[in-house]
Amino acid sequence: MAFLPTQHIFILWALFIIVLQSYNPTLVKAAPKSSLVTKLPGFNGTFPSKHYSGYVKLNGTKPSKNLFYYFVESERNPGKDPVVLWLNGGPGCSSFDGFVYEHGPFNFEKGKKKGDLPSLHLNPYSWSKVSNIIYLDSPSGVGFSYPLLPTNSSQTATDSHAFLLKWLELFPEFQANPFYLSGESFAGIYVPTLAAEIDNGIRNGAKPKINLKGYMVGNGVTGSDFDGDSSLLSFVHGMAIIPDQLYKEAESCVNISNQEENKCQTTWSKIGSATEELNIYDILEPCYHSQNPEQSNTTSSPMKSFYELGKSNNRAMPVRNRMFGRAWPYRAHVKDGKVPTWQQLHESRLLHGLSVPCFDDEVANTYLNDARVRKAIHASPKAQNWSLCVGLDYYQDLGSMIPFHKNLTAKGYKALIYSGDHDMCVPYTGTERWTASMGYEIVDEWRPWFTDNQVAGFLQGYAHNLTFLTIKGAGHTVPEYKPSESLHFYDNWLQGNKI
Ligand SMILES: *[C@@H]1O[C@H](CO)[C@@H](O)[C@H](O)[C@H]1NC(C)=O
Ligand SMILES: *[C@@H]1O[C@H](CO)[C@@H](O)[C@H](O)[C@H]1NC(C)=O
Ligand SMILES: *[C@@H]1O[C@H](CO)[C@@H](O)[C@H](O)[C@H]1NC(C)=O
Ligand SMILES: *[C@@H]1O[C@H](CO)[C@@H](O)[C@H](O)[C@H]1NC(C)=O
Ligand SMILES: *[C@@H]1O[C@H](CO)[C@@H](O)[C@H](O)[C@H]1NC(C)=O
Ligand SMILES: *[C@@H]1O[C@H](CO)[C@@H](O)[C@H](O)[C@H]1NC(C)=O
Ligand SMILES: *[C@@H]1O[C@H](CO)[C@@H](O)[C@H](O)[C@H]1NC(C)=O
Ligand SMILES: *[C@@H]1O[C@H](CO)[C@@H](O)[C@H](O)[C@H]1NC(C)=O
Repeated sequence: MAFLPTQHIFILWALFIIVLQSYNPTLVKAAPKSSLVTKLPGFNGTFPSKHYSGYVKLNGTKPSKNLFYYFVESERNPGKDPVVLWLNGGPGCSSFDGFVYEHGPFNFEKGKKKGDLPSLHLNPYSWSKVSNIIYLDSPSGVGFSYPLLPTNSSQTATDSHAFLLKWLELFPEFQANPFYLSGESFAGIYVPTLAAEIDNGIRNGAKPKINLKGYMVGNGVTGSDFDGDSSLLSFVHGMAIIPDQLYKEAESCVNISNQEENKCQTTWSKIGSATEELNIYDILEPCYHSQNPEQSNTTSSPMKSFYELGKSNNRAMPVRNRMFGRAWPYRAHVKDGKVPTWQQLHESRLLHGLSVPCFDDEVANTYLNDARVRKAIHASPKAQNWSLCVGLDYYQDLGSMIPFHKNLTAKGYKALIYSGDHDMCVPYTGTERWTASMGYEIVDEWRPWFTDNQVAGFLQGYAHNLTFLTIKGAGHTVPEYKPSESLHFYDNWLQGNKI
């Protein structure tokens, strides 16, 4: 029997739809044409999706602020996939850190000679494979945003909220997509405070309505109640960096008053000697002890396998070793009040005269300070030379993040709190404790999660859609070390699938 007429009609209709879709040249119909990025120096191929970059001007402040964004459309289904805001930490670090080194659309290959333009290759594990993603340089003065002004956590949340409202006006076709916030390190402060600001906005009828569904934080700062000495101590003990005896001795030196500091000085300096030569961002990685990593053949030459850690998953990327900006060195975790700049920390007694070790951001620096690149991505001449982190006059005025997480999860926003388990900067131990301290019922008891039939880490699911997840063998900047594992948990969590 031949096709029934209804089937013919259906097939014709389906063909019509397909033809219609293939003739639709751009999904983003209303996006500002002037911000479209069509070519990038160092990249010869075709972009797998549309890229936009430019400024959103905030007029509500004096002087007005110009916040820079780079927006990558989803390579899957931009009309339906979530829109995710990405924020790096510091405070003072540019979100191009995430773009260049973590989960951006390209892998950057170092030029042949110092100063040569890097070559760009498509990153098979880009988060733009499964989501629309906005990289925002925040607060004003960071990355390509300008001018540099003193600021604090409440002001930063207000400004980022104002940015998002304007951005969604510029890109109205994304207003209905599910919206998520994400970030790492000091963005452990930015993300929940911004989420609270957005939630208030929704309640007060701010337009356009942000379709906020949830947020994720990686190796994030939470507050001195959990990020302090006690999380460091259990981490270094569990990782065999200090012996049992020293651990027992140090237990009474956690959370002590200034008056008691003296009796604990010897103990802390023993812990200091055990930890100070390690790479704080990933204790498995080598640490270059000279200012210039290329000249660093000082301490034992690390095994080749160490250098290849950063090259897993076909991601040709030199191992970085940066001791600047993104969080805090030994015994100097983020506290309420004025957040010291690196320079100030360096000069303070906290570091016991430790010098700032190496700092290799050559690829990002060379690329983002190239005049052709700056032109291609619409960076203003008014923006300063790009650097990974700037010294920012920043005041942490919002206290612990626990009340924020409580309110947000109680309101139905879902939260993924993840930790690279070899990071000593914001160790998983404190994060595991604060998520447990929320007191939510365990709905998915501690278990491994997998990629390619291998254990990729562990997770514990709580009521109110709160998930704590570790990534085995990853450091502070998780997707930099474990790109395919990261894309796996990111995609599944966003889609509401079991990880
Ligand atoms: C901000 O100022 C610019 C330039 O003066 C103007 O074009 C823009 O419409 C203003 N935006 C708002 C939201 O007031
Ligand atoms: C791009 O093309 C130029 C000129 O053909 C070539 O020199 C360069 O190596 C290519 N770059 C990459 C990343 O393929
Ligand atoms: C935060 O910064 C803004 C802008 O500089 C200022 O007006 C406000 O008083 C500050 N708030 C606190 C609590 O420091
Ligand atoms: C640290 O001490 C303060 C004040 O004595 C106390 O409120 C807090 O709960 C302690 N924190 C920890 C982690 O023991
Ligand atoms: C590296 O090793 C070479 C040869 O052993 C030595 O001459 C040079 O001074 C070393 N460089 C540094 C920075 O230690
Ligand atoms: C900014 O970058 C340009 C080009 O690389 C360089 O000539 C200039 O000295 C830099 N300015 C500062 C203040 O570092
Ligand atoms: C949490 O919600 C309560 C009740 O709405 C409110 O009073 C409090 O200020 C909120 N706290 C934070 C940190 O958002
Ligand atoms: C968890 O999230 C799902 C989907 O996002 C939602 O349907 C459900 O109501 C949430 N559960 C709780 C307890 O908030």
